[in-house]
Amino acid sequence: MKVYLLELPPSLTMILMLGLLSVLWTEPARCLEEDGSFTFDGDLRHFAVANNMVYIATEERLYQLNHELTLIHSLTQRGIPRNWNQPGQERFDRVSEPAEGSAAFSVNMFLPFVKNNSLISCGVIDKNCGYCEILDLKQISNRLHSEAIQVGSLRRSNASVSFLVDVETGTYILTAIQRRRDESKDSRCSDAETVNLQDTDDQTGGIFSFFDKHGTSVIKSDGDVEFVDGFQIGSTIYLLSNVLSNKVRLIWFEGKGSKTQTIKSLRGATLSDGGSRLVASSVIPGGQQVLWSGVFSVDGGQSNTQLVVFDISPDLSRGSDTDPDFYYTKPKNPVEPKTLKPEKVLFKQNDVTSVLAVRQRAWMVFFIGTGDGQLIKLAVDRHYHTACPRVLYRTSDDRQVFPKMQLDPVDHKHVYVPFREQMRRVPVSKCDTYTSVKDCWSAQDPYCVWCQAKNSCTFEDDCEDSDWLSIPDDLQQKMISHKVSKDPDGQISLNIQTHLTVRQNMSSNFACQFSVATVMLCSGKNPRPQFPQCTCIFSNNTTFPADGLQVTVQITLGQMQLLEQLKLTNCSDISGPPSSALCRQCMMAGCGWSTDTNSCSWANKKAVHVGVCQMLESGISRPEISSITPSVVSFYGRNHAVLSGHNLSHVIRVRIQADMDCTYQESPVWNNTGVNLTFHIPSTDKKGVVKVCVLLPDGSCHGNGKVTYRSSPSCTNIAPNSTWISGKRKITVTGSNLEFVEGVIHSQAQQEVSLPRNSSYQNLAYDTPAAGNTHISSSPVVLKVANQTLTCSTITYYPDPEFTSFTSTETGDNVRITIQKKADKLGIAKEELSVWGIQDGQKHPCIMEDKETNNETDFFICEIKNTPITKFQNLLIKYGGMDVRLGPPSLLHQVLQIVRFLLIPCVIAALVIICHWHRGLTAEMNKL
Ligand SMILES: *[C@@H]1O[C@H](CO)[C@@H](O)[C@H](O)[C@H]1NC(C)=O
Ligand SMILES: *[C@@H]1O[C@H](CO)[C@@H](O)[C@H](O)[C@H]1NC(C)=O
Ligand SMILES: *[C@@H]1O[C@H](CO)[C@@H](O)[C@H](O)[C@H]1NC(C)=O
Ligand SMILES: *[C@@H]1O[C@H](CO)[C@@H](O)[C@H](O)[C@H]1NC(C)=O
Ligand SMILES: *[C@@H]1O[C@H](CO)[C@@H](O)[C@H](O)[C@H]1NC(C)=O
Ligand SMILES: *[C@@H]1O[C@H](CO)[C@@H](O)[C@H](O)[C@H]1NC(C)=O
Repeated sequence: MKVYLLELPPSLTMILMLGLLSVLWTEPARCLEEDGSFTFDGDLRHFAVANNMVYIATEERLYQLNHELTLIHSLTQRGIPRNWNQPGQERFDRVSEPAEGSAAFSVNMFLPFVKNNSLISCGVIDKNCGYCEILDLKQISNRLHSEAIQVGSLRRSNASVSFLVDVETGTYILTAIQRRRDESKDSRCSDAETVNLQDTDDQTGGIFSFFDKHGTSVIKSDGDVEFVDGFQIGSTIYLLSNVLSNKVRLIWFEGKGSKTQTIKSLRGATLSDGGSRLVASSVIPGGQQVLWSGVFSVDGGQSNTQLVVFDISPDLSRGSDTDPDFYYTKPKNPVEPKTLKPEKVLFKQNDVTSVLAVRQRAWMVFFIGTGDGQLIKLAVDRHYHTACPRVLYRTSDDRQVFPKMQLDPVDHKHVYVPFREQMRRVPVSKCDTYTSVKDCWSAQDPYCVWCQAKNSCTFEDDCEDSDWLSIPDDLQQKMISHKVSKDPDGQISLNIQTHLTVRQNMSSNFACQFSVATVMLCSGKNPRPQFPQCTCIFSNNTTFPADGLQVTVQITLGQMQLLEQLKLTNCSDISGPPSSALCRQCMMAGCGWSTDTNSCSWANKKAVHVGVCQMLESGISRPEISSITPSVVSFYGRNHAVLSGHNLSHVIRVRIQADMDCTYQESPVWNNTGVNLTFHIPSTDKKGVVKVCVLLPDGSCHGNGKVTYRSSPSCTNIAPNSTWISGKRKITVTGSNLEFVEGVIHSQAQQEVSLPRNSSYQNLAYDTPAAGNTHISSSPVVLKVANQTLTCSTITYYPDPEFTSFTSTETGDNVRITIQKKADKLGIAKEELSVWGIQDGQKHPCIMEDKETNNETDFFICEIKNTPITKFQNLLIKYGGMDVRLGPPSLLHQVLQIVRFLLIPCVIAALVIICHWHRGLTAEMNKL
């Protein structure tokens, strides 16, 4: 927020400031930032998106925001449970902030009921029993109804779900509540079972009723169960849960008939082979089958997670209500539920906490949130081929992305990403960062099109009334691919295939023009171009020069022109001993590798994939990686990492590639000894584990190393915050990820970088460098992390401490020494000094006991234990890198001290007199 102060009288400014302060005071910790985020007060409990609004419930407050996250209303969560003992439908006056008699209300369930223009908000009042409110969806400060009743969990549980379902007889609230076998049900308050259908209105049993004329619409369970997700598609309702014994369970309900009939239609399935626990999930909208994506933890823990797709289309072939884990009436002979196998494991990444799946054209797009604050986008085609994952947003610290991200319902171009104390609205794509047709296409982003009229990469709906092109429905490596083939009677033809999606009707104007240095290449008997393919049959006089035939292909598509340069080689000229490099060269030239003859030849109709080349890789003296130090770094990377292993002599580069990622980075190699080499671990935009291999000159990459990227270091405090000019004071920095700090810089210092003495996640200790000059000065403390510098705090340089004298007293076997030091601003702690008594050249350690301070002097008290010596000649004091020797106060010194104290007032008096006299004299002189 910007505050402009005008030139106003001070009193008026004061009043304005007070006014402003009071405004800020009534909206605590609220902050709207320009980059699409909203920071709220307290921890996020629930959020919902409906129409063009976003609703957020925190522990204490409710917020209503517009879809761009501008605040419209906010109110404190308080409720008045008036009809406590007789659940009924007492209507309330419209009150915005209930005051007297109201109690703290903690929301566990939050559902926009768009058809009814209301927001159903239920939870626990006064830490006790269930309580519900119905608010006006357009203005949440209007309360339409409130009632003491349980809807949803009474506990603050992340493992319960609730949503509205539409069945034949109306709309109901489905709540699925986490159960623990050992927990006792509070009979006074709790009416709810594991799965419940409750009324939304005065249906048969009245609002929030569990009943209808067929019975009570609840499902029970016996064991532990945690619910992860639930939704309705068509008439089928889906619930996903983790049940005891590490099973992931799916339940289907058919939304036919009444709510009790719906509940009784329960059928179940077990999702196997995805992982042992479901962490988060999202249904993949659209399509014929019901595809669903789940984040599973592979080992039950949080760290090892993967994104898996299942087809969860309902199977109604088995009998209803026979499930062993969930039942309406407990089945006598439970039937083992059907087992569903995954369609595909799409993505592996540590600590995934949240997923949102959407469809864009023929593509599925997954937004994946992680425990360390990343939002990753993954586009997947219908054959489950994945494009390169891209990081859309990344926090600099480890803030968890909460489950249940949602798409902006107004523009469909932003995702709401929930964090503990913040909601972010992140664009799904940044098409405009791609500046050419090729870049736009290569981004493999189904949201982006190259727009003819704007001559830029945009969202499709930002390119109206203009031709555009985009990636095709399947993942392709190239926008235009080619093949050179020879038919049996020796005729050579060049086949061009474009891999594009274009605007409707554009493809009717499709043509290709082939030329070699402006001379037409084709014989004129070409088949008619048919989008996406065109063919050129070479003239009989075409010859292939030794360095290749440079062919220009100009493709016309609607109003657009694409130019492609190809270098064609006579395929039989690509010869030599078979190797993977030769094979790749052959494939790149549009020729085909024959696995029969192990040589390159003209392409034929049989599809040969690039995989054949990998089989040719030789197995002799392959490099191996045994370790990388350090192997855990911040996302800024690390300079001078050491890779150890065997046969490293010929390694030219180190390649770093994220798991399942298609892009990689390469770093040059330094100081290669054959068993060790040095390289810089590059910075990355994505936290997580990456694979490391070492590259040989033939392009093959060997070895299997790992590097983990974590968050950047951050610092919260330094102590002490001052140092003496001579340096070497021990400073402790506190914060997080401090083990990644490679050095500390004080701009005022002589020396450039101080290396950490020791560092851990939360603490880092280093010795201050000496100051470049002797003035008191402040210097920023800057942490060096690879090539980045992070400013941490400031430190002040003061002159070195001045120790003046010491005295000793005998206490039994010990000698107690009191050291005097002039008071200063350094705040030296007794631990920072080491002291020895010196007698006849022998050092006797003095154990520091205490520090006392008065206005002028600091006293450090230490004891030399078990010594027969009663008086020490000298004292040795060490601080930082300095040694100070003190002699005992001599008689002369003491006398001088007294004289000084007596003399000072006299000197001052004398000075005053002299001054007066001098001034008088000057006046006289001036007169003269
Ligand atoms: C090229 O040669 C083939 C057979 O050798 C013949 O069928 C074809 O007509 C010739 N094409 C041209 C353009 O002369
Ligand atoms: C092939 O010959 C024709 C006429 O004979 C000529 O027009 C054409 O330029 C020649 N093409 C090449 C590639 O030499
Ligand atoms: C740091 O910068 C140098 C010089 O530009 C570069 O060679 C090195 O790779 C960078 N290191 C990291 C970790 O990015
Ligand atoms: C290579 O080794 C030399 C001497 O040991 C060292 O000074 C230099 O910094 C090293 N280079 C790299 C890039 O680690
Ligand atoms: C290789 O690096 C390892 C670990 O950094 C070290 O222990 C070893 O002494 C090094 N060997 C050589 C030959 O430099
Ligand atoms: C330095 O630390 C002292 C106490 O540790 C504190 O009183 C003082 O405000 C700090 N100074 C700065 C500039 O942070």
